[in-house]
Amino acid sequence: MKAIQVSQYVNGPEDLKVADLPTPTPKPDQYLIAIHAAATNFFDLLQIRGKYQHQPPFPWVSGSEFSGVVLKAPSSLPGGRTPKFKVGDRVFGGGQGAYSTHIAIGEEQLRPVPKGWSFVDAAGIYVTGPTSYAGLVVRAGIKAGDWVLVHAAAGGVGLAAVQIAKAFGATVVATAGTQHKLDVARSFGADHTVNYREADWAAQVKKLTPKGRGVDIVYDPVGMVAESMKCTAWNGRILVVGFAAGAIEKVAMNRVLLKNVSIVGLHWGAYATNEPEMQTVVWDGLYKLFDSGKYRGIGYTDKEYVGLESVGEALKALGARDTWGKVVVKVPQDGQSKI
Ligand SMILES: NC(=O)c1ccc[n+]([C@@H]2O[C@H](COP(=O)([O-])OP(=O)(O)OC[C@H]3O[C@@H](n4cnc5c(N)ncnc54)[C@H](OP(=O)(O)O)[C@@H]3O)[C@@H](O)[C@H]2O)c1
Repeated sequence: MKAIQVSQYVNGPEDLKVADLPTPTPKPDQYLIAIHAAATNFFDLLQIRGKYQHQPPFPWVSGSEFSGVVLKAPSSLPGGRTPKFKVGDRVFGGGQGAYSTHIAIGEEQLRPVPKGWSFVDAAGIYVTGPTSYAGLVVRAGIKAGDWVLVHAAAGGVGLAAVQIAKAFGATVVATAGTQHKLDVARSFGADHTVNYREADWAAQVKKLTPKGRGVDIVYDPVGMVAESMKCTAWNGRILVVGFAAGAIEKVAMNRVLLKNVSIVGLHWGAYATNEPEMQTVVWDGLYKLFDSGKYRGIGYTDKEYVGLESVGEALKALGARDTWGKVVVKVPQDGQSKI
């Protein structure tokens, strides 16, 4: 197989090299997948530089999200269970080693490609979809009629959140840093857009809401809780999803009291160990949205990245904050793209 193997930390994505490696032999309870597309994440950039919380021992294959086709199903599952997927099924998933033509992986890390979806779009669901669904539905209790403010709305989790909020009957105010990104958020269903690089963005958001009461839910993957409280309604919920701006915010607690708001954390990855049954609820909810056409793929389309050789360029574009949605690299099998 071909893969981006990391044998020592690199200065940046331009230093990544494609290597010929032995195709992995799956364990009896694993699948072998032919990867057709791999998605980029900011943490891939941290990991190749040795700055991520999870650093496998050298050498390791980079990348963590993919889609592809089952080449080999498990020969033996615990309790004699029948494998969910068979040879030829289209799947997507998450696991170390996605920048590769092949991956050996367990069933719990795989999901079926939604009907009619491309490999490119499917490669970007595994993290963004459940994060935004669990945040808005499970943690913030979204309901029809809510006003939802989605920060960094053209980013990966942001575009997922816009679509989920709309599907639940909310009115969505999207923020982003450029007009192009605001237009993208609108094309995925946002009702209103506000550029949060403008100093008075919170006042603009408040003014959009009925009688200037503020929004009911703030979806925050950036680190804008303190400022967002200026445009949050009485009884509002503020979802702490991430810190894309880099700093971990410190919030004055008297404002939480005075505004009568709830600040709610979300750590999707930790549901697997702390509340595994909720994973089924979240994924079932997501597939209903996929099947109803209320949620479509968010693969970045301004530029195409083809071949593992272009992973470095794709990661560079992601790190430069130039892109929207999920930047996905097509991985041709046998020299040909099957996308
Ligand atoms: N809690 C969880 O379980 C969970 C799960 C998944 C992801 N996350 C976190 O959520 C955040 C967003 O993830 P994502 O996959 O949506 O990332 P992404 O696609 O790279 O989007 C991040 C967005 O943040 C905005 N941003 C604001 N300040 C920025 C800065 N200084 N540098 C770069 N971007 C900046 C950018 O939009 P503008 O250019 O429009 O400002 C960008 O579109 C990350 O911090 C990630 O770790 C959390």
